[in-house]
Amino acid sequence: MESDDTLRLWGGRFGGGPAPELDRINRSLPLDWRLWPYELAVDRAWIEELTEAGLLDAAARDRILAGLDRVERRLESGVPAEEPDEDIHTLVERWLADEVGDEASQVRIGRSRNDVVATDTRLWTLDACRRIDGSIRELQSAMISTAEAGMDMAFPAYTHLQRAQPTSAAHWMLSHFWPLDRGRGRLSDARARVARLPLGAAAGTGSTVEVDPDRLARKLGFDRPCENSLDAVGSRDWVSEVLFAWTQLANDLSRLAEDLVVYASAEFGLIRLDDAYSTGSSLMPQKRNPDGAELARARGATLLGLLAGYLASLKGLPTGYSKDLQEDKRTLFAAEEALAETLAVLAGTIGTLSFDAERAAGALTPDMLAADVAERLAAEGVPFRLAHEAVGRLVRHAEETGQVLQDFTGPDAAAVDPHLSAIRPEWWDARAALDRRSVGCGSAPDAVRRQLEEARSRL
Ligand code: ARG
Repeated sequence: MESDDTLRLWGGRFGGGPAPELDRINRSLPLDWRLWPYELAVDRAWIEELTEAGLLDAAARDRILAGLDRVERRLESGVPAEEPDEDIHTLVERWLADEVGDEASQVRIGRSRNDVVATDTRLWTLDACRRIDGSIRELQSAMISTAEAGMDMAFPAYTHLQRAQPTSAAHWMLSHFWPLDRGRGRLSDARARVARLPLGAAAGTGSTVEVDPDRLARKLGFDRPCENSLDAVGSRDWVSEVLFAWTQLANDLSRLAEDLVVYASAEFGLIRLDDAYSTGSSLMPQKRNPDGAELARARGATLLGLLAGYLASLKGLPTGYSKDLQEDKRTLFAAEEALAETLAVLAGTIGTLSFDAERAAGALTPDMLAADVAERLAAEGVPFRLAHEAVGRLVRHAEETGQVLQDFTGPDAAAVDPHLSAIRPEWWDARAALDRRSVGCGSAPDAVRRQLEEARSRL
């Protein structure tokens, strides 16, 4: 303990404390205080191992564990980010020393902040992935209810953001469900590589205390211990992997957000965002702005930037622990917050939006059935190339003469091109076109109902 009442875990070989500007960049407590629940779990498990290994007797163990309980209550009562300590490891040991005196430092035997911080951070990451998974599921549930509302509603589908073919509102909504389902899968795949225990690697070469890594792993909720101590303290590919899974999710959400922004505009008018998920303008009283969706769209870039910066920070690091790795927490915490806020605002936005069935039906212009008509002609024996060209001519003709395409059936159609003579009035019906798309992943109501069932079963 130093006279200014701060504790340093490495004071002995130095003439004085670090320069203020070094202390400022080096201190990680303002960030890593969030790790305290994991720090305590690791301390408790380590104390048990030290006792098993004969380095602590039962009485010392009980005193330290009771001290840790009191430290926990202190930590629970407020954010300790403003404490003077270098990091969460130092803070917990200092507060433990307040409770049990010098014995507190026994917890440091045979381990290093290098293996402890990797362990704490992996534990935090496992919990964060569980939280994100829960938020994804909430958004997916909102999508399912909104899809139910748009079940039989014909809706325009776009390619190149140009009107293309008819689909249903439900099918559009569910098209955003499946990327999230894959995102959950990616996170659960990554979990297997996060759930390895680094504790026991000490500073990098392995602990000198005879701990049982399998028992420690089990106790702390890991699948198994890391295989190599240098790798255990010096590798963060598992952080990259989780960040990528989160970034891909944010990227997928930015596409959903873009649809919301565009479809809610007066020009499209396919959806209406609830008042609670719209914002106003300080000048234009009439405005209803989709700020939540726009910010969700921007967060795709926020996460991409965090991922890219993080990957770059790992490149070329030498074997073992380097302080560069401390920055993993800044990135992870910022990324989780950015993604969690995005998921939450989109769940609310999706759960409360309404479709404008009339505008959607109005957007289904007959030219969107041109491909269907060509395919039906092909089924009647007109080679598809000729059918495609003939229908193209018909569309141009109708456009030039200001006529509507539905007026062209039988002889009227044949007058434009003889290959078109088989066209019947019902070929220009958008609902009938929907029903024809009954292939497994298609837009037909029956197929979408099956899809919705499948989606429900994933939750
Ligand atoms: N605060 C560091 C981190 O977050 C852990 C401490 C390692 N420091 C050290 N001098 N070995 O990565």
